[in-house]
Amino acid sequence: MVAMATLLKLLLLLVLSTFAALSVSSQQFQTQVELPIVVSTWAFVDAVRAAAQHVIKDGGSAVDAIVRGCSTCELLQCDGSVGYGGSPDEGGETTLDAMIMDGTTMNVGAVGALRSVKGAIDAARLVMDHTEHTLLVGSQASTFAVSLGLPGPANLSTDDSLQAWSSWKNGGCQPNFWREVVPDSTSACGPYQVSSLLSGRNDDGVVGDGVSKKLKSSSDKNIGYGNHDTISMAVIDNKGRIAAGTSTNGASHKIPGRVGDGAIAGASAYADDDVGACGATGDGDVMMRFLPCYQAVESMRQGMTPAEAAKDAIDRIRRKFPTFIGAVFAIDKYGIHAGACHGWVFQYTVQDANMADAVVFTVKPDIF
Ligand SMILES: *[C@@H]1O[C@H](CO)[C@@H](O)[C@H](O)[C@H]1NC(C)=O
Repeated sequence: MVAMATLLKLLLLLVLSTFAALSVSSQQFQTQVELPIVVSTWAFVDAVRAAAQHVIKDGGSAVDAIVRGCSTCELLQCDGSVGYGGSPDEGGETTLDAMIMDGTTMNVGAVGALRSVKGAIDAARLVMDHTEHTLLVGSQASTFAVSLGLPGPANLSTDDSLQAWSSWKNGGCQPNFWREVVPDSTSACGPYQVSSLLSGRNDDGVVGDGVSKKLKSSSDKNIGYGNHDTISMAVIDNKGRIAAGTSTNGASHKIPGRVGDGAIAGASAYADDDVGACGATGDGDVMMRFLPCYQAVESMRQGMTPAEAAKDAIDRIRRKFPTFIGAVFAIDKYGIHAGACHGWVFQYTVQDANMADAVVFTVKPDIF
């Protein structure tokens, strides 16, 4: 009887594992993915075409395709949220965050709050290829990039970005990213003072009397429809090499010096040849605390599908920050891709070797 039970167990295991194997492969066949493949946040079709041209038609590398794709968005100022002339900070200046990751070597290069240089993804690539560092920031990052040949110093402001900045200033600097501070009484802008030093605060951290102005809550910030904030891209090339990268001009009206998720490996993007890749977009200040792309890739490594991994990465943030706005896409090393989002409808764009042109996928949030 014991032998019989063991035999049955073995049989059952065999049947179950066969089904498991079948379901994975049928999913792959259903989607008919053929490598190489390019995936990008949002409907950044021109960026995806540029990357696809390089990695599919010309047989180039995944890393080079990331640079082509993100550079295309920097030049086109995609949605005003990538490249020069967008998202002026409190001083009216546009600064850029970018990151590139080689999933073969796990090498990363990034720049944060890059000033006066338009080619943020190029600068990130220079950090990756020509230094032992991972992240350079601010004016020193600009000096570094220009010293290795990037054009600069350049003026990253445009008439549009200066116009957006002055209307924000004239509107009393709302919305903004400050908390529990008191603005200057005449301008309603900075310089700000820490309000608890003026009035004390109660146990809940609620500001007491003496606050002259109620600042808007985090859900009223500047990220939303029509202000998509990042290109994050993943590429698998014809050698199975996987790369990921990001380029953004960050959040409008950010406090000068702010570096967002765009410069952080594992936050805005992540890649590992052994598993796959991920790209993220949204409220970077919150999302970067959760490393959602590191999480999504690690979840796929543990056996989740890209759809499960993307949803799980978003759910982890939503549980702690129910009003955050964001999205991720995840792609496994076979090219199976999926997206998940919260607080907005997300789109991501794909072109693989079977597709004549880039295709935009739309993802709806589970809970709005
Ligand atoms: C940068 O360009 C803008 C828009 O053309 C212009 O208004 C501004 O004066 C320029 N800034 C500098 C420092 O040259």
